[in-house]
Parts: sequence; structure tokens; C-alpha cells
Amino acid sequence: MTVAPHFQFQNNTLHAEQVPLSKLAEEFGTPLYVYSRQALRDAWESYRVAGQDRELLVCYGMKANSNLAILQEFARLGTGFDIVSGGELARVIAAGGDPGKVVFSGVGKQVWEIEAALKAGVKCFNVESEDELERVAQVAERMNVKAPVSLRVNPDVDAGTHPYISTGLKDNKFGVPIDQAPRIYARAQQLPSLNIVGVDCHIGSQITEVSPYLDALDKLIKLILALKEQGVNLIHLDLGGGLGIRYTDETLVTPTQLLTEVFAALDKNGLGHLEIVLEPGRSMVGNAGVLLSRVEYLKHGETKNFAIIDAAMNDLIRPTLYDAWHSVEAVEPRPVTESTPRYDLVGPICESGDWLARDRQLELKQDDLLAIMSAGAYAFTMASQYNTRPRAAEILVDGDQAHVIRPRETLESLFATERLLP
Ligand code: LLP
Repeated sequence: MTVAPHFQFQNNTLHAEQVPLSKLAEEFGTPLYVYSRQALRDAWESYRVAGQDRELLVCYGMKANSNLAILQEFARLGTGFDIVSGGELARVIAAGGDPGKVVFSGVGKQVWEIEAALKAGVKCFNVESEDELERVAQVAERMNVKAPVSLRVNPDVDAGTHPYISTGLKDNKFGVPIDQAPRIYARAQQLPSLNIVGVDCHIGSQITEVSPYLDALDKLIKLILALKEQGVNLIHLDLGGGLGIRYTDETLVTPTQLLTEVFAALDKNGLGHLEIVLEPGRSMVGNAGVLLSRVEYLKHGETKNFAIIDAAMNDLIRPTLYDAWHSVEAVEPRPVTESTPRYDLVGPICESGDWLARDRQLELKQDDLLAIMSAGAYAFTMASQYNTRPRAAEILVDGDQAHVIRPRETLESLFATERLLP
């Protein structure tokens, strides 16, 4: 059993749904991102079921994976999108998504981005500062429209996750301190070009417990009740994203577990009418993808063994950036014995930080294929061309079919727009 239900062994070969990964490597080369369409559908289904009978809008946090085909699949299933840039909005539109189901987050929205979002008719701006509130109001006034706004508050709760992906603490740049929210809402009430629709928070990522959400919710409920007194009646409550996935043996919180508690707390406080918005990214795509890579060389040293593979930190930066652990499967594994060496899996990039996994016991030979698991989220979207490495192709498997959803970049394309001096 691997960590990803749609990437399993058949006849000692790791498959994506019904397609052997070895076949994809042969056909499309490596490194290669391979996604499972059914995994996307199942992830969506777990949220849909959790929200049944209630008003729930899932706005996929597309920064996790913004390939157009993936957005298209989610749009067809009925999701909205959480965007953080004008670029992401353009992708939603290109993929056929409904801008009316888009929430626009992010601390640094520029004027052109606000204009584009108003023109597209997004559901809501998740406003992250007083300055931004004023700017959104000005742009809307100039365009003679009303901007739907929601304030992102920072509830100061510890999501218990890596400092780089924890966002709900006082010291983070995100949102406004929750005790200032009533005053900022009062200001919003004075601005005729704003339409106050909700309140928002996002406390972090790869969260594996319900309690941080409930701590945040508790504070938000108090705020919502106080706002009511102030004459601000909200339509929705956005609890952000953050549900974790299984990279190794984590016990997870399911959308149903989370939402059951959320709905109960709202009902208890007479707030059952609120629409709930969620912004899941990782849990929608993380285990829908692997990064396929081939062993170039094995280097056995005195204290360490290295497997030098053709994927690198430019393809998957999470290990070196967050010390993240991704499980690694040999696509055609040989039995591991006591004398099987342990390897650090490293890429060809000229940095000591260029590693993808450490201290893994694998019976390897040159040219072996490896699957780096859980690479559907924050892998391609964080990829770069460092060392003039073309970004790898992306393949989406549907049953026994494989679709190229992004071809491998060509070398020429990497510098095609650069200019030599006269
Ligand atoms: N909403 C907002 C406002 C966010 O900032 C994020 C993620 C999400 C939703 C989606 O969160 P998720 O459900 O994916 O946890 N690159 C890091 C993760 C950074 C998350 C940034 N914000 C990683 O690879 O672990």
C-alpha cells in the first residue's frame, strides 16, 4: 500500500490508475508529474458529502496546482476557486471556471488585479488590511460598481504546523488582528462602494487536528455576534483551507469530521444560516500526483550513499524549503534486505540543498524509476527553471488513458524572450 489510493502496485509495478508508470516514463520521459483524475474526483466528493444538506462552497485553493485541466475538472464538478493574484483569475477564466464562485485572497492586491476581479464579478475580496479596504473601495467607486468584501481576520491560533505554512498567528503578515475587526467593519459600513458579505480566516496548512479550527471558529463566532449588534449581517463564513494529507502515516481530519463540528457550533449560536466557504488546496490534489524520476548514478561513499536522480529541487522544492518528507516508491521494486544501502536522493543542481529525500533504504540500480509520492500539491506550481532546467511535463491519467496536460518545456523556450545586446 502506498500513501496514495490511486497509485498502487499491480504485478510489482506502480500504476497511476490503470497505467504502469514505467510506460509513461518511456513515452514522455522523466522527470514527469503524473496525476490521477479519479483522485481529484474523490477529493471533491469528500467535501461534497461533508457539506450535503448545508450551504457549502468549496473554493479550491488553486495555488496548490493550477494546471488548466485540473481547474477545468474541478470547475465541472462545481467548485469555486480561491485565488491570490490576477494571474490566477486569468487561469480560472481560461479553464471555464465561474468567477462568481471566486474568492480573492492575498495581502498585496494591486489596482489592476482589483479592477480585473471587479470586472469578472468575483464573489468576494478577502481583504487583509485597512489600506486594502480603502483601495478596493476607491477602485470600485471609480468603476461605479459595488465590491463584495469580507475581512480576513487573524484569530491568533497555533495551527501546529511548520512556521512557513502557519498563517494564523499574531506575528504573521496575514489578515487583521481580530480585536480590530469591529472597527474596520465599521469603516467599511461607511464606504458606499463596498458590500460587506462575510468574514474570513485561514490559519495554516497541513493541519492534522480539528482543534485549531475550532479555536478559530470560537473567536469568529464571537466576532460575528458582535458585528450583528453593530448592524453588520454577514452572509458567509470562510474558514480557509489547510486540511492535511497523508505523506507518511499521519492521522487525518476528514472534511466530514471538520464540518460536523463547525455546523454544530454555528447552530448552537443561532448562526446556522451562514454559508460556509472553504479554501482547500493540498487536500484536493496532494495525493492525486507523483513526481516520476529516473536514477542517473549511484554514488557509494564512506559515510553516505547518494542516488543522483533526474528530478531536483527545481521540480519539488518542499523537502529543502520545509524539511518536508515525501515517501518514495521504486516503480519496479526489488526486495529490501538487511544489506540494502540507505540513500540520499539528490538532484543534479549545484546546491547542497538539492535533495528530495534522505536516508531511504532502497535496492537501486542505475536507470531505475522512482515515484516521489504526494507531489500533486505545491510541486509544479513551485517549480522553477533553475540551472536552465526545462520544467517537466504534466500527465493526467484517466483509467487506462493518459492525457498530456502540459508538455515538457523546450530548451529554446527557456530563453526565447531574452535579448542579446546590440
Ligand atoms: N487559502 C489561503 C488564503 C491560503 O493562503 C492557502 C495556502 C490556502 C487557502 C490553501 O491551503 P491548503 O488547503 O493547501 O493547506 N507551499 C506550502 C504550502 C503553502 C500554503 C499557502 N497558503 C507547502 O508546500 O507546504
